[in-house]
This record gives sequence, C-alpha cells and structure tokens, in this order.
Amino acid sequence: MSIPLHRLRAGIIGTGFIGPVHIEALRRLGVQVTAVCGSTQSARATAHQWGIPHVFGDHDYLGLVQSPDVDVVHIASPNKVHVEQALAALRAGKHVVCEKPMGMTSRETARILAALRRPKAPVLAVNYMCRFFPAVLQMRAMVQRGDIGKVIHVQGHFFQDWLLKDTDYNWRILASEGGPLRAVGDIGTHWIDTVSFILGARAEAVLAHTETFHKVRRRPRGEVQTFGKGHAKDWIAYDVDTEDFASLLLRFSKASHGHADAVHANASVSQVAAGWKCSLYVGIYGTTGSLQWEFQNPNEIRVGRRDGPDQVLQRGTPGFDVDVAGFTDTPGGHPEGFPDSHKMQYRAVYEHVATGRATAPLFATADNGHHEVRLCEAVLRSSRSRRWVEV
Ligand SMILES: NC(=O)c1ccc[n+]([C@@H]2O[C@H](COP(=O)([O-])OP(=O)(O)OC[C@H]3O[C@@H](n4cnc5c(N)ncnc54)[C@H](O)[C@@H]3O)[C@@H](O)[C@H]2O)c1
Repeated sequence: MSIPLHRLRAGIIGTGFIGPVHIEALRRLGVQVTAVCGSTQSARATAHQWGIPHVFGDHDYLGLVQSPDVDVVHIASPNKVHVEQALAALRAGKHVVCEKPMGMTSRETARILAALRRPKAPVLAVNYMCRFFPAVLQMRAMVQRGDIGKVIHVQGHFFQDWLLKDTDYNWRILASEGGPLRAVGDIGTHWIDTVSFILGARAEAVLAHTETFHKVRRRPRGEVQTFGKGHAKDWIAYDVDTEDFASLLLRFSKASHGHADAVHANASVSQVAAGWKCSLYVGIYGTTGSLQWEFQNPNEIRVGRRDGPDQVLQRGTPGFDVDVAGFTDTPGGHPEGFPDSHKMQYRAVYEHVATGRATAPLFATADNGHHEVRLCEAVLRSSRSRRWVEV
C-alpha cells in the first residue's frame, strides 16, 4: 500500500547552488525536509530560510544520514564525496537521491552497486533530472511508438559560458575535486543520459576529442559559489587539468524499441561557449521525421517531416500524450522548466519508495550512474589514444 509523499522525510547534504533547488522542489511536492548539512554557516542560513529543524554543520553528513528523522538522503555536495556519503546513507538503510556524477571513478561507483545488491536494499536514484522534462518523456514515447520511423542518427550539444574567462573559478575545474573530466562529466553526461532515456539504449562506444582552452587559470582566494561572479582582488594562478570543451562521436546500443540497429550520435560539449547559459539541445532523426528539443525552451518540441508540414508540439496541449501528464502540473501556456524537472524527478522517486517500488523506475538508477562514469573513463581513454573505445 502506498503512503502519502508528505510522510517521507528528506535530509539534504550540500547547501550551495543545487541543494536549495532540491529543497524547493521537495517542498512543492509536500515532502518534509527535516535536516540539512553543509558548512556550518551556510547550513544554518539554509535551515533558517526554509524552517528546517535539524542542522548538521561542519559537513557532518554522518549525523544527517543516521538521524531517525530522515528517510531519504539527497546528496548535493561536490563529486568527490558522493560515494562515501551514498555508502553511509545506504548502510543506515536510507534511500538516496545522489547528484550526478554518481562518483569520480567506476571503481568507487561499483561499491554502490555492490551495496545495493542485497535483499530489501534502499532505492538509489541519480539526479539526471532532464528525463523528467515533459518534452523528453514525450520524445521518448514518440520514439517508442515509431512516430519518426526508425532512428538513423542523433545530434546535439550541451553549451554553457560560465567558465569562459580564465578568472571564472569553481571546484569543478580541479580534477581532484570534480573528477578528471569536467565539461563531459558535469554536463555532457546529462546529454548522454537524456539521449539514452529517449532511445531506450546505452552509449556503448565513443570517439572523443577533449580540449583545455585555458591551460592556466586564476582563482580568487577563498570559497566561490557555483555560477558566482565575484570581483576578487587577490588571485592565485593554477594549472588546469580538466577540459573546457569536447567533441564526442557515440554509438548507442540496439534499443528495445524504435530501431533495430545501433544508433550513431555526435555531440559538442562546452563550458566556454559565449552566449549559451545552459543549452542542452538534442535532435533525433528518423526515417519518417525528426524531433528537436532545447533545454532553454523546454515546453516545445519541433517535429520535422520531409513529406508534410513541420509541427511545434506544446506541453499542456493535445500535442503531448496523456501519459506524460503525471509529470506536468501547469496548463499549456504556463511554462515549466528547470525547477519543475527536479520536482518531477523527486515525484517519481518518492512515489517509487512510497508504493514499495510499484511504479516504474523512470529515474536514473545506480546502474545508469555507474555506466555514465564508465563512459567518462572511456572518453578520457579515447581522447588520449585518439581511437574508438568500447565502454
Ligand atoms: N542535476 C543538476 O542539474 C545539477 C546542477 C548543478 C549541480 N549539480 C551537482 O550537484 C553537486 C553540487 O554542485 P553545486 O553546484 O551545488 O556545488 P556548490 O559548490 O554550489 O555547493 C556544494 C555544497 O556542498 C557543501 N560541501 C562541500 N563539501 C562537503 C562535504 N564533504 N559534505 C557535505 N557538504 C559539503 C558545500 O559547503 C556547499 O554547500 C555536484 O555534484 C554537481 O555536479 C547537479
């Protein structure tokens, strides 16, 4: 029997950029947020703003995961601590929503898979929430139904410009903090996961070229907020060991629907693309039509036809299927976007937990998260060897 979502209690680790996005989305679903963990000052300020009763300062994540007032742990801390925090939460019997990437190496993310391989293991979801844009669910349904025929190829990009200048700084730039792949690991995996979800297929081989434009950057002394644009006076120069942009050729496996053969894709990924704030663009090209969608205009899908008029399908109108309706709340013409995709992802996860796993796990699982990390490793190997690498 299902329990109402507001009976489940969430604890959030990380109170920087994305932690509060989780809090807001959960609150909009009626989920109780009972605990928060981060640096003492930031955790206290977040708790104060949202009226969250339990504060675990000084990054005391063990206190949070062991709290009897927390059922689901959200990990919104930097990448290098995801695995240890996820393992601690699973050991404490807590369900987990882990930010992407699930870890920095497949060796460590394999430990999460092992921890989940036991009876009655908790649920773990990786926060590839682009799956829950209604347009992405709609494109998935259309590909599954064969609305664009057999899929021939896929093309797209994920572009941002917040790290364009050599003075733009974030922990992600350091391989020791975010992992050896930055643009691909941070945003490229969102693109790959989205395409995998739409096709119902896995990226199984890659030919990659990665490039670091700023080989040396300057950073301000002290902590810097994600997307922050500080005006520091005191700079430290450092060598950059992660990529600013990448070109990827990908081969997706034979899928369960829509196409009998492997599908080829190409994507560009950049965090130094002036003018693009957060543009995930995907074009799916089939034998009878194409689908195009862009993250910054998320309520619409463009359907292209060779032998008929093109169409623009709008969310909340008859252009979208009713089965997408479980993951959209406002009527057509009332735009939904980034915060709503988080809300819909947590709806899917919390309903899965509340119903004792009776709903389909549409969200990215630990297996998907592990695969994305293996893919990043294949990208690195390919870029270094200049050859195709199987994942
Ligand atoms: N799904 C998405 O769309 C999305 C968007 C942004 C970030 N992210 C992911 O979320 C994570 C956090 O990114 P961010 O941009 O919010 O970073 P951020 O630097 O803005 O915030 C990180 C927070 O974690 C805290 N923290 C640092 N070390 C910690 C530790 N050991 N234990 C507990 N808390 C710790 C910091 O004090 C800070 O509050 C990253 O893994 C990133 O990839 C995902």
